[in-house]
Amino acid sequence: MQSTIQAPRLTLVPMNDDHLEHEIALDARPEVMRFLGNGVARERAEVEKHHNGRLKSARDGLGYWTGFVGTQFVGWWLLAPAGNDERGQAEIGYRLSPDFWRQGFASEGAKALLAYGFDELSLTQIFAETMTINEGSRAVLSRLGMSHLRTRDVGQISSIPESEQGNVDYVITKKEWEKLRSAP
Ligand SMILES: CC(C)(COP(=O)(O)OP(=O)(O)OC[C@H]1O[C@@H](n2cnc3c(N)ncnc32)[C@H](O)[C@@H]1OP(=O)(O)O)[C@@H](O)C(=O)NCCC(=O)NCCS
Repeated sequence: MQSTIQAPRLTLVPMNDDHLEHEIALDARPEVMRFLGNGVARERAEVEKHHNGRLKSARDGLGYWTGFVGTQFVGWWLLAPAGNDERGQAEIGYRLSPDFWRQGFASEGAKALLAYGFDELSLTQIFAETMTINEGSRAVLSRLGMSHLRTRDVGQISSIPESEQGNVDYVITKKEWEKLRSAP
């Protein structure tokens, strides 16, 4: 079972059907979807499908969380089960409302989820992936202390401009996390 997680400003609540309208409003904003899927805003039916998939993916304490400040929806985060390949056992990610960008919220929620994954779930390595050109997402991953593992899919073209620059994988181990946390 996923826990509710309290960060300094954010409360991360395990995602449930009450959050669907927030997810629909989020994906309706083109600037949010710029580096995701086909790079365009999503219709309600498509978001409903994704929402159901998110809920179904939950297991062993992993899944999706919706973040609030008080009663205000900020966005959602994932610490989701992965294939336990060389990149790790769980993938971390985030999608926030532009109303809350550049205020440290993505980092705050992700940091709380890294702590949860390593301390509560005893994971040993967590990874993230994003488009090479998604500077905002990459800045969050660097801020979390995650390292660039590789760039892949270079030359593959999608409907997103400059997608041919490919995707990047970032990783962090439990040991690296503990070292960072104990640093002054
Ligand atoms: C990417 C995203 C999650 C960033 O969220 P955020 O809450 O603004 O990030 P933070 O405020 O925690 O910023 C962390 C760092 O990233 C930097 N940053 C954030 N957005 C940035 C951007 N667009 N370009 C460059 N740097 C950026 C911040 O300045 C900060 O750097 P600092 O530690 O040196 O001050 C947010 O823009 C978003 O939800 N985008 C749409 C969805 C998306 O692309 N998700 C990622 C999919 S892989």
